[in-house]
Amino acid sequence: MATPQQTASLERLQEELAQKSEEVRVLRQMSSEVNATLNLDEIYEAVLGTMYDLFGFHHSLILLLDDSGETLRVVGSRGYEGPAVGAKVPLGVGVIGTVARRRKMMRVGNLGQTRSYAAAVRSEMALSEQADELGAIPKLPGLPNVEGQIAIPLIIKDTLVGVFAVESAARRVFTERDETLVSVVANLSASAIHNALLYRKQEEYSQSLAERVSERTQELAQRNQELEQTLEELKETQNQLIIKEKMASLGNLVSGVAHEINTPLGVLNSNNDTLSLALKKIGQLLEDRLAQGESWRDDKVRDVLQNMSSLTKFNAMAAERMIKIVMSLRTFARLDRADEDDVDIHEGLESTLTLIHNQLKDRVTVHKDYGDLPLVRCHPSQLNQVYMNLLVNASQAIEGKGEIRLKTYATEDAVAVEITDSGVGIPAENLNRVFDPGFTTKGVKVGSGLGLSIVRRILDDHNGKIEVESKVGEGSMFRVSLPIRPSPEPKA
Ligand SMILES: Nc1ncnc2c1ncn2[C@@H]1O[C@H](COP(=O)(O)OP(=O)(O)OP(=O)(O)O)[C@@H](O)[C@H]1O
Ligand SMILES: [Mg+2]
Repeated sequence: MATPQQTASLERLQEELAQKSEEVRVLRQMSSEVNATLNLDEIYEAVLGTMYDLFGFHHSLILLLDDSGETLRVVGSRGYEGPAVGAKVPLGVGVIGTVARRRKMMRVGNLGQTRSYAAAVRSEMALSEQADELGAIPKLPGLPNVEGQIAIPLIIKDTLVGVFAVESAARRVFTERDETLVSVVANLSASAIHNALLYRKQEEYSQSLAERVSERTQELAQRNQELEQTLEELKETQNQLIIKEKMASLGNLVSGVAHEINTPLGVLNSNNDTLSLALKKIGQLLEDRLAQGESWRDDKVRDVLQNMSSLTKFNAMAAERMIKIVMSLRTFARLDRADEDDVDIHEGLESTLTLIHNQLKDRVTVHKDYGDLPLVRCHPSQLNQVYMNLLVNASQAIEGKGEIRLKTYATEDAVAVEITDSGVGIPAENLNRVFDPGFTTKGVKVGSGLGLSIVRRILDDHNGKIEVESKVGEGSMFRVSLPIRPSPEPKA
């Protein structure tokens, strides 16, 4: 049988055991709560709530070391009247600051006494006007009438993260059990706080990274746009160069061909003349012999002679046509004239028509409505390129049979040439694009899309202009206008 004393001590032991196991249960629960989240506020709430509700610590604070490493800042608190969050504690100041600096836990009591002692010293010194030597007392967070305090550094891998503190205004001095409890809570929460801090840093970093990426993307997009514009300009310049080159080599080609054809054509022409003269002479000789009574019965020879003579007539006609073409080529390229000249517009139109005769023939009828035009000061070979491009386009726009009308007229200070075709017409959305270099609807092998851009450039050079009107299914009209400039004074 146990003595009543033994029973009492057994009961006490049992009670303590029950209390301890309850504490372990609460701590376990808090631990799983703080480890289940990466949200700092939720962690503070779980820690402070547990301290208050379950362990009866009515004033507690969580402070974190800021980036400077010199100041602690309150991030969570429970039990204070004014707002404690945000308050600062310099390292080394007060119990909390000292704990942070020494990285050692402190449990202090009877602070009221210490405070009144310090106040007494202060007022003594103030009386002897030495208060300045003590310096100002920094305003620290916490209870104004604090009696007891436990402060524990939060340390992760030798690095100070912050301080966890509990305070009491009651005369009750914190016990060893309190100290153990607070240090267990501090240890449990330190790593959760540390993890959440790392997570927040990483979040901030990824956010700033995302911002930087989007900024950079925008910069790149702008760069891209600039590059595209430069590319466009380069393309345009390249086109202009190609056009110039094309025109120069076309001119050379035309002049070469005209020259090459001209010489043998001359030979052919004069030989043909000689031949027809010779034939005439032979015919005459035969007639003479007949007249002199010589019998000449072979009519076959006469027939042959007659055939030959009609052949020479055809030869002469063909040669004449060739001469006309060569002449047109020369007029077209204006090989025989200075670059700028006073020019008869109709002459240029006519020679161009001769050159594209083959394309038109009896498929396209050309109607001419020529007005009275003054001579126009211009580069004739270049203007002929204009007519050529417009007439070829007109002819290509006509599927099967159709018509082209050429109308010219003069206004007060300009002349105009209208080339109207009965072709397929141009859709409204293309009307502005037809002058762009490279724009073509004819397929790569047929058109290069440069014709109208050449036209526009030549007219720009002449201070002239080109306009277009068109209706799909009815046809198109291109109007060329050129200013009539006074010819420069003839050189002496
Ligand atoms: N008279 C017209 N009728 C209908 N469409 C036309 C006419 N003139 C020009 N176009 C349209 O404008 C486009 C551009 O004409 P442009 O003369 O610049 O180039 P292209 O004729 O296609 O090729 P290139 O002249 O270099 O051989 C043509 O492909 C065509 O679609
Ligand atoms: Mg063309």
